[in-house]
Amino acid sequence: MPSELPEGVAEVLIQESDLAQRVRELAEEISRDYAGRRPLLVACLKGAFVFLADLVRHLRVPVEIDFVRLASYGSGTESCGRVAITKDLETDPQGRDVIVVDDIVDTGETLCYLIHTLRARSPASLRVCALLDKPARRRRAVRVDYLGFTIPDRFVVGYGLDCGEKYRELPFVGIVK
Ligand code: IMP
Ligand code: MG
Repeated sequence: MPSELPEGVAEVLIQESDLAQRVRELAEEISRDYAGRRPLLVACLKGAFVFLADLVRHLRVPVEIDFVRLASYGSGTESCGRVAITKDLETDPQGRDVIVVDDIVDTGETLCYLIHTLRARSPASLRVCALLDKPARRRRAVRVDYLGFTIPDRFVVGYGLDCGEKYRELPFVGIVK
């Protein structure tokens, strides 16, 4: 019901039960693919924290978890735009099966940069798991191995995603006004 939506949120795009089901499916896929291994999940702060927390509780393989934080400084002309790591890994990814966990792939700039940075540190394997994909605004080709939902070109919040640090706590993904 629209009257129950928080101020500033126009509509629900993905409801809580659909998120829960899709996250379970992704966890199932990852568990199958990584059976017998112990992948290093690298989650991007802050947006991926809710997705990560739900995902790991449905995995059937042991994992190690670390976090990175990236800041983008607009669109650059060089490869992968102008992105910087403002909080780096505390785990050495060399020789590890790394899975990057992110909230949403929009232009692809930040993920492109992170993937190139991680690849230079010689992981045994490197895959990407993203909850949402907004292909309309893509500038860098990014291969997403585990994808939750493809969404239209709208600004979304909730389930970890924010708009000016608001709405991260919403249990659904909604479209802002
Ligand atoms: P990209 O580098 O353009 O792919 O942007 C990636 C980051 O921008 C995501 O990890 C989000 O933190 C943020 N972002 C992009 N689109 C949205 C949105 O619709 N809502 C909230 N955050 C977004
Ligand atoms: Mg992000």
